[in-house]
Parts: sequence; structure tokens; C-alpha cells
Amino acid sequence: MFKDDLLKGKKILVTGGGTGLGKEMSEHYIQHGAEVVICGRRESVLADTAAEFKDKYDASVRFQPLDIRSPQDVEDFVETIFQEGPLHGLVNNAAGNFISPTKDLSARGFDAIANIVFHGTFYVTNAVGKKWLEQNIKGSIISILATWVWTGSPYVVPSAMSKSALHTMTKSLAVEWGPYGIRINAIAPGPFPTEGAWARLSPEGALEDSGSMSTIPMGRVGEMSELQNLATFLMADGCEYLTGQTIALDGAQYLSGGGTFSQLSKMSEDDWSQIRSMIKKTNDSDKAKRST
Ligand code: HXC
Repeated sequence: MFKDDLLKGKKILVTGGGTGLGKEMSEHYIQHGAEVVICGRRESVLADTAAEFKDKYDASVRFQPLDIRSPQDVEDFVETIFQEGPLHGLVNNAAGNFISPTKDLSARGFDAIANIVFHGTFYVTNAVGKKWLEQNIKGSIISILATWVWTGSPYVVPSAMSKSALHTMTKSLAVEWGPYGIRINAIAPGPFPTEGAWARLSPEGALEDSGSMSTIPMGRVGEMSELQNLATFLMADGCEYLTGQTIALDGAQYLSGGGTFSQLSKMSEDDWSQIRSMIKKTNDSDKAKRST
């Protein structure tokens, strides 16, 4: 889909880049010529991923254990990175989530998610954005959100609230930092199964058993290459006018819940012809009444 050197000369920081979606996006950026920096809470996971990329692509990937919940650690880390050279891209991918009835959440349970997603993502975005403003760099930010920024979502309320706030951050900073050429967009993926997320969102197949998957008009989960391609398009030069947007990548799943008639997509051709003849019968009977 893209030229191999599309991202050549760009240095991109991916939070939570050692596993899951962050690792997939990092790999695609490397394949397209970017230099990638990954951070996350577990050093051994980051080291393994960096070693894997070295083996596969001879790419030297800078990695750093970092808990984005700590604003000082974030500031220090971003300072160090910029001392080594400018960043051009940031992917806010690090997150935390688990399913739970909201009434069973303690304050610490709520904070466990909100401190990572809501606070941590802001700390990283602002630390990097301030450097770009100081150094006059036209960087690009992508945050990984969820379609519940539009719909809300039961059983993941701390995540839904936090990601909705980041959706608002995306729109707000596009305006505030737009005059300096800094772009900020977001991707709202539908289900893209990964080990970390699925262990917390679909333990024992909870998502599949609830019938959630049958609500996807395209009838399948997302493919990593689809997420990688969108994340690369948004990071690359060439469409700088696109900013402040959260783009759903979900096979139309969230839209399918929104319309009164969405569930009718399950009906067969036979069902439709039966319905058509029932409606015709009603219309004919009305016409007959009108003519008498
Ligand atoms: C209720 C729970 C709980 C659960 C934890 N808690 N799990 N409460 N139900 N299942 C409560 C604990 O009881 C405790 O409160 C508080 O949360 C902190 O728990 P810790 O285990 O100490 O938290 P911590 O080690 O900080 O773990 C944080 C975490 C963890 C975020 C909860 O899951 C994590 O590290 N996740 C990272 C990876 C991840 O979650 N990936 C999925 C992202 S998917 P008390 O009061 O008891 O002390 C995503 C969207 C995907 O974001 C969209 C797909 C469609």
C-alpha cells in the first residue's frame, strides 16, 4: 500500500509499544523506514520486542521502561529523548482496561484505569507537544481510542470516560496546535484481538458469548494490517489538512447499533420477500377501503 521509505527520517514514540497493537504499529513504522522508540511498564517485554525487530529488520529500537502515570518520569523521559534528537511522531497507545459491573469498582479500581488512560496520555501528549512548540517541529500525534467515545459503554465505564476525554483532547489540541503545524488524530478500533486486551475484556470468551461479534456488519474482527495501514497513513506526510479527527476502524460495528433497523441486516432474501408481500397486502387493503 505504501512506498517502503514513506517514513524515512521520522522518529516515532509508541507508548505501550512492546506488545499488542503498539507492537504491530511499531513494526509497520520500522518496515516503512522510521526510527522507533518504545516505552512501557515492563522492561523485559520491551527488550524482547526490540531484539525481535533487530533480528528481523536490523533496526535499532530505543526502549525505555516508563510508567506514564508519573508526570515527572514522563517529562524526564521526553527530555532525554529530545536530547538525543527530535521526535516527529507520537502514538498514544498505552492503556489499561478490564470489564466489571460499575457498582463493583472501588475508587482504586477506577483510578487504575483513569490514571493510565486519561492522566497518563495527557502527560505524554503535553510533554511532547511542548517540545515541538519550542523547537518548531510539525509533529503528528495519533491516539488509540475506542468507538465507545461516541456510544459510551457499560462495564468499561472508567475506560469509556477516559477515552472520551481523549477524543475531546484530540479536537481541542487540533485547534490549539494547528497554527504550529502539529496534527492530532485518533483511531477508534473495533475488536482487534490481542493477548493483553482479550484476557481482560473477553475472559473465557465473554465477548463472543454475548453475541457482540454478530453485531459487526462485516462479520469479522479487524486485521492488524488494516490498523497498521491507517496508523501509517495518519503518521505520514501528504494529508496534513486532516487533523482533529477520530476515525472508527470497526467494520461499521458501532453504527450498526445506532439505527432502529440495523438488526434487519440479519434477514434473508426470503424474509424480505415475505415482508414485501405483507406490506403490499396492507397497502392493497387500504386502497380497497379508500375506493369504497
Ligand atoms: C474489579 C478490579 C479488577 C477487576 C483490578 N481491579 N482488576 N476491580 N474488577 N477485574 C481493582 C483492584 O481490586 C484494585 O482496587 C485496583 O483495581 C488496582 O488493581 P491492581 O491490580 O493493583 O492494578 P494495576 O496493577 O495497576 O493494574 C492495572 C490494570 C491492569 C490496568 C488494571 O489490567 C493492567 O496493567 N493492564 C494493562 C494492559 C491492558 O489492560 N490492556 C487492555 C487495554 S484494552 P482495590 O480497591 O481492590 O485495591 C483497551 C480498549 C480496547 O483499552 C477496546 C476493544 C474494543
